[in-house]
Formats: sequence, C-alpha cells, structure tokens
Amino acid sequence: MSTIESILNETRVFQPSEKFTQQANIPSIQAYQALCAQAQLDHQGFWAKQAEELILWHKPFTEILNDKTPPFYHWFSDGELNVSYNCLDRHLATQADKVAIIFESDDGEVIQSTYRDLHLRVCQLANALKSRNIEKGDRVIIYMPMRIEAVVAMQACARIGAIHSVVFGGFSAKSLHERIMDAGAVAIITADEQVRGGKHNPLKATVDEAIHMGSIPSVKSVIVYKRTGSEISFDPTRDVWWHEIIQDAITQCEPEWVNAEHPLFTLYTSGSTGKPKGVQHSSAGYLLGTKVSMQWIFDYKPSDVFWCTADVGWITGHSYVAYGPLAMGATQIIFEGIPTYPNAGRFWEIIQKHKVTTFYTAPTAIRSLIKLGADLPAQYDLSSLRLLGSVGEPINPEAWMWFYEKIGHSRCPIVDTWWQTETGCHLIAPMPGAVPLKPGSCTFPLPGISASIVDEAGHDVENGKGGFLIIKKPFPSQIRTLWGDPERFKKTYFPEDIGNGQYYLAGDSAYRDHDGYFWIMGRIDDVLNVSGHRLGTMEIESALVANPLVAEAAVVGKPHEVKGEAVIAFVVLKGQYPQGEGAIRITNQLREWVAKEIGPIAKPDEIRFGENLPKTRSGKIMRRLLRTLAKGEEITQDISTLENPAILEQLKNPSK
Ligand code: WT7
Repeated sequence: MSTIESILNETRVFQPSEKFTQQANIPSIQAYQALCAQAQLDHQGFWAKQAEELILWHKPFTEILNDKTPPFYHWFSDGELNVSYNCLDRHLATQADKVAIIFESDDGEVIQSTYRDLHLRVCQLANALKSRNIEKGDRVIIYMPMRIEAVVAMQACARIGAIHSVVFGGFSAKSLHERIMDAGAVAIITADEQVRGGKHNPLKATVDEAIHMGSIPSVKSVIVYKRTGSEISFDPTRDVWWHEIIQDAITQCEPEWVNAEHPLFTLYTSGSTGKPKGVQHSSAGYLLGTKVSMQWIFDYKPSDVFWCTADVGWITGHSYVAYGPLAMGATQIIFEGIPTYPNAGRFWEIIQKHKVTTFYTAPTAIRSLIKLGADLPAQYDLSSLRLLGSVGEPINPEAWMWFYEKIGHSRCPIVDTWWQTETGCHLIAPMPGAVPLKPGSCTFPLPGISASIVDEAGHDVENGKGGFLIIKKPFPSQIRTLWGDPERFKKTYFPEDIGNGQYYLAGDSAYRDHDGYFWIMGRIDDVLNVSGHRLGTMEIESALVANPLVAEAAVVGKPHEVKGEAVIAFVVLKGQYPQGEGAIRITNQLREWVAKEIGPIAKPDEIRFGENLPKTRSGKIMRRLLRTLAKGEEITQDISTLENPAILEQLKNPSK
C-alpha cells in the first residue's frame, strides 16, 4: 500500500516537446491510440501486417497464429526466413558502407565495422563453424567479452541455424557447467580473457574448469578468440583459435533458411527454484518484436547513433545490441568496459566522442554515476542526444529527474521500458513522441500487447488497485518454452489458478493509476533484482547449503540505494554459532563461495548467523519476518505461528 501511495503522490507530467513530436515515428497520442485500436479490432491481422512489412521472408507465411496447443503458441509458422540475412544481407544493396558498429575497447581504442565488413566476418565464422560440423539445431554456448566478436558469434550461429546460448562473462565455472549440460552444447565460443575496468577475467580458464567439472561429452569444439594473448592451456583435440579457423573460410555463406518457429536462441534466467530456466525464443516472432520496438519506442531514424549499454549476456544485449539495431540497419556503439573506468565520466565521454543520439541504460548505473559524479556530465557536450531509455527495474523519480535534466538537458524524452527475458522486447513503454511521461512509470502497453492487472482469481482490478501483471493474448516475441522443460514453462507462466491458464503471468506486481499509467511494484516470486540482474533466492540458498560448513540458509532482498536490492543471507552453520573474528572469517569465506558457485553478482552483501531460522510449527521458514529483519525494522507482524520466537533477537544484527 505504501508504494501505491507514494506513486499517487507523483504528479509531475512531461509532455513530448514539439521539436521531438515533429520528427517522431508515432507523433501523437491519437496515432498511438489508432494503432492500439487496429490491434484491438484484429489482433492477428495487425501482427501479420507488421510481419509482412518488417521481415524479409524467404517463403511467406500463410498461417498467422497457431493456438491449437496453448500455451505453446506458434506465429507465422509455415514461413521461412533467416535472422542473420535480415540483419546483414538486406542492407548490402543499400548501405553496405554504413558503419554498423563503433566499438570502443576498455582502454579507449576505437574500431569501426561497416555492414559489408560485419557481413563478411559473420560469413567467415559461419563457414568455420560448419567446418567444425556444427549444424542447424545444434546448441552453441557463447562466453565472450563485450566486443564486435560477440555479435559476430551470435549472428554466425543464426546464419547456420545453430541455437546460441550466451552466458554472461561474470558467471562462474559452475554456472557455466550447468548451462552447457542443460543445453547439450556441441561447441563453446570464448576468448582467452575479458578486460573490464583494467581488470582481466580469464574466460578460457573458466571454460576449462567448467568442462572438467564432470564429463561433458557433447562439447566437441572450443573456439578461442585472442583478446589479450595471455597464456592459456590448449587441448588440441578440442580447442581451436578463432583467427586460425577463419583464415581459410570463404567470405560468402548462404544462410540456412529456417522455419519461423525455429529457436533462434535460449537464454538462461533465474526463477523461483534453484535451477535456472532456459528461455527459448523463436526466429520470426522475436525478430519482429525487436524491430517494432526499435521503431515505436526508440523512434529509430537512419541518422541515429544508437547505444544500449547492456552486455550481450543479458536479453537487453540480445534484443538491442545483437539483433534490433542491426535489423534496422543502425549505427550502434559497443563498449567493452565499465561506466566508472578510468573515471565516472566514461559514458558521457563516449556520448560526446561518438555523437550518440539514443542512450539506453539501467537505473542502477544511473544511480551509481550520480553518487560518483553528479556534476561530471556538465563537463561534456551531450547535445547529440535526442532520446534516453531505462530498463531492468523501476527507476526512482530522483534518478529519473537527474537523467532527464543533467543528461537530456530537459530536451530528451525518457523511455522507461518494462519487459523481460521471456518477452523478447519491450511490452510496456512510452512512444516518446506520443505519450506524456510520469517519472517512475513505464506508461502504456505497446499496440497489440494486451497487458492488464488482475487479482488472484484472474479478474481485472480497477485503476488504483495493485495486482498481478499479465498479458491476455499471445504476442509474436513471447517465450516459446523452457528448454527441455515444457511442464515448468506451463506451470510458471500460464498457471491454472490465475485466469485458468489463459494468461501470460509476468511474475511482477503492478498498479495502474487513475490515468491508466502502469507502475511496476516488484516481483511476486522469490526473485531478487540486484543491479538490474535477476537472481533467484533459492539459487543462492542452494549455493550456500552446498558449502560443507552450512546447515541451512535463507536469502531475502533488502532495498539498496544503488543496486535496487541487496542480497541478505541468514545462515545456520553445522558447527557452533560463530562470533567476532570467526564470524567475519566465515562471512568472507561464504561470500567467495557464492561467487564461485554462481558468480560475483550473487555474492551476499550481508550474512547473519543464527542457531536456527524463524520457522512455523510445520517447519516452514517465515521469510516475511526475515525481510523485516533485513531492513532493520521492528517486527509488527503476527508471530503467533512462530515456533521459536527467541531466534529473532539473534538474527536482528549483522554479525560484526
Ligand atoms: C524483470 C525482468 C528487460 C530486460 C532486463 C531485465 C524488472 C525490467 C523494468 C522496468 C520496472 C522492470 C521486472 C521484470 N524490470 N524492466 N522498466 N520497470 N521493472 O530482464 O532479467 O528478465 O528481468 O525486471 O521485475 O520482471 P530480466
């Protein structure tokens, strides 16, 4: 309730300027509403028209939506296409020499790649993959630094119909191992090292460790891009250098024409259980989603210099680095480093240097840059900017205002885009030339997206009331299934108890204000949002209990100024309840352990030890109490069902 009240108090509204509206793809609220009305009238016809206009089909589709086996929806399913062809070849006749990627390395070196060059590189690698017997439908793990080569690797897979699964370079050997196993990957594309903020991260060594964690017979090739030239171990039966295998590869490669529903990729994301989910996306529906959102939400223009700061290890880097901008024929920035190296002006310097027009980043980055240098942006020329974007978590109004004034000079609309790994593209976000903005609200659904807010019975709630965010009708870019686990897919996203399995359940709670604006309030499941990264509490708990010292663990989130949420772990050890020095030593040990098990992003910010956890008489951990304790608040909830009230005192304070 308190969240809703604070939202109700946000009364600022920012109208699109006339200057922006005049050039906008969707230039008025009426134009937006007209699109919504068309979609409302003929949902399938609306999407079919978009698919005909925006995708180059090798074989046109005749069937729009196949909904015979819900929730396994198929779109345009008798059509054939190739996504890489749609991102590269289609531009060769018209703009081969346009710069596709302006790459800036960690240490400031700039490399440009035109559409002609990118096409050539993708064809070469695609041929090299084929020569390693990688075929259509095979799974390829990509564990790469944020460089042009990461995009080349993804596009090369798409070109031959191989299904890529990118794993973020910050994940540990253990996480990588699980993903390789789950995907049954035949190849891994990696680099000797990754360099970010001057620090080297040994990617190849981590791949070796992941492979040796148990036999992974499926992996036949490890392709290594030489980034730093550091010493690595090399298994000649399996490992090959990227630069060697492309040497003899020809620079033309006929794309593999695939069915519209052919999986373009899987991407692992956290859920309510300990096991990450392999979110599977289609080829055509996904491509369509990235393109419509580039036009509607990013108001794409051929003269843009587009910059999405996300790593290709996340969905944002898939949709708005590797696919969307290339499908549009855009010029985009790829940046290898971090926003604070060599100083907190790095983003602003890049915007100035490359004359960025469209800048898309995460609230956590904005908050940390405010903290480290609120006045730094004034030292840079940011006049090339015309549009700003935010993604990953709700943006707090203070961060929104700073972004709007200090970066956009009150001139650039901010598109606050709500979406998920599972939705493939923006679903709720403002069309910047049409929709008046309210700081902190992602505003309205895209045309053809039937978003709503319902109660537990699946009934729409009135404006002013909170509930579950759902999507009523199927949409082209949605998740197709969870890799190897269709049952979990069905149960997680189309639960029987909310709307009889008819609705896509996003897993977020939300609220609509009296003007119908959507406000996202947070997750309804045991998922944390730490610096815009999704982490399952269960995942961190199972990592903790896998440590020989730990008997039991419960993980909750606590609001954090910069990261959005911090990870707080309550731990019961097998041995004695630790105090003083001992507690500090074990805390450090367990934090490092979690970094090794999952990755540094999942390290608990705080660990509290107890002789037990607060449980009901039936043995269920009372997490709501832990959340209150984590926040340092007094417990006012009903604790009559609590078996061991004395334990609360012990868990109150972080161990010192
Ligand atoms: C979850 C999805 C979408 C790409 C990055 C994250 C939260 C995302 C917003 C936003 C409020 C947001 C939701 C969502 N989220 N964007 N604009 N406002 N919350 O993808 O890792 O799949 O996480 O991120 O909770 O469910 P993801």
